[in-house]
Amino acid sequence: MKYAVITGASKGLGEAIAKRLIQEQIAVVSVSRFENEEIKKLAWEKGLFYQHYSCNLALEEEVQEVFMEIAHCIFQKNPTEILLFNNAGVIEPIDMVGHLDQTPVIRNIQINLIAPILITNLFLSKAQLTETLVQVINVTSGAAVRSIEGWSVYCSSKAGLNMFTQTAALEQAELNSNHKIIAFSPGVMDTKMQETIRSSTKDAFKDLEQFKEYKEKDLLLKPDIVANALIEFLLSGNLESGKVYQINDLLK
Ligand SMILES: NC(=O)c1ccc[n+]([C@@H]2O[C@H](COP(=O)([O-])OP(=O)(O)OC[C@H]3O[C@@H](n4cnc5c(N)ncnc54)[C@H](OP(=O)(O)O)[C@@H]3O)[C@@H](O)[C@H]2O)c1
Repeated sequence: MKYAVITGASKGLGEAIAKRLIQEQIAVVSVSRFENEEIKKLAWEKGLFYQHYSCNLALEEEVQEVFMEIAHCIFQKNPTEILLFNNAGVIEPIDMVGHLDQTPVIRNIQINLIAPILITNLFLSKAQLTETLVQVINVTSGAAVRSIEGWSVYCSSKAGLNMFTQTAALEQAELNSNHKIIAFSPGVMDTKMQETIRSSTKDAFKDLEQFKEYKEKDLLLKPDIVANALIEFLLSGNLESGKVYQINDLLK
């Protein structure tokens, strides 16, 4: 049996990933502050294992405690494979350096970078004692490799996530392990995160008008299209550990 652990499955891309995986008969463990009732219902209709864990990924102790419990629960079922999606993310704080408040800066790095590092570390550690294959998908952004004024913290967190992915993959290769770890850049999607971006100000975010135009001109990708392309690619088994995949490569 395959299990997927998805952070941020309550909405946006994470929700779309969870729904597609359930269609593929893959058991889902969802982690976010709020539960998505539609996912619960869908899994129940398909007779699939599903569990939601409420967790604030900005709180390191909560992350350790909740994920120890999740890992214990899943590994004792001896799954053939665990797909770990470090998907949850926040864009805030959106502002120029010199105007940043300390709390949202720390929260961003905790959710976007520290939580994925801690969770991946825990799962790879637990997997050492088992036959279970672990595949980690870290959801990154084009902002990891392109500086966007007003997004210095978000850009930095995603750049860090890319480097963590590449380094962990190198280590696994050195160990001749079958575990894989990739980063995936989903493109500009029509989710709550884009609403947050559009609600910022021109002073804080220089490219505000461009992002408003993406929505007005219907140029934003639908999260289910992105999730479907990602899951089809993952199920093809062709993923190259350490690579940063772009949605455009998968939609071709
Ligand atoms: N949307 C885009 O255009 C875009 C572009 C490039 C990359 N991305 C990346 O894609 C991923 C998904 O983004 P999205 O657009 O789907 O965002 P979204 O719709 O805003 O959803 C964010 C998810 O993260 C969870 N989350 C946020 N803060 C959390 C916290 N403190 N603890 C636990 N969970 C938390 C939310 O769950 P709760 O609120 O229930 O906790 C929610 O499920 C992110 O990593 C993002 O950086 C998005």
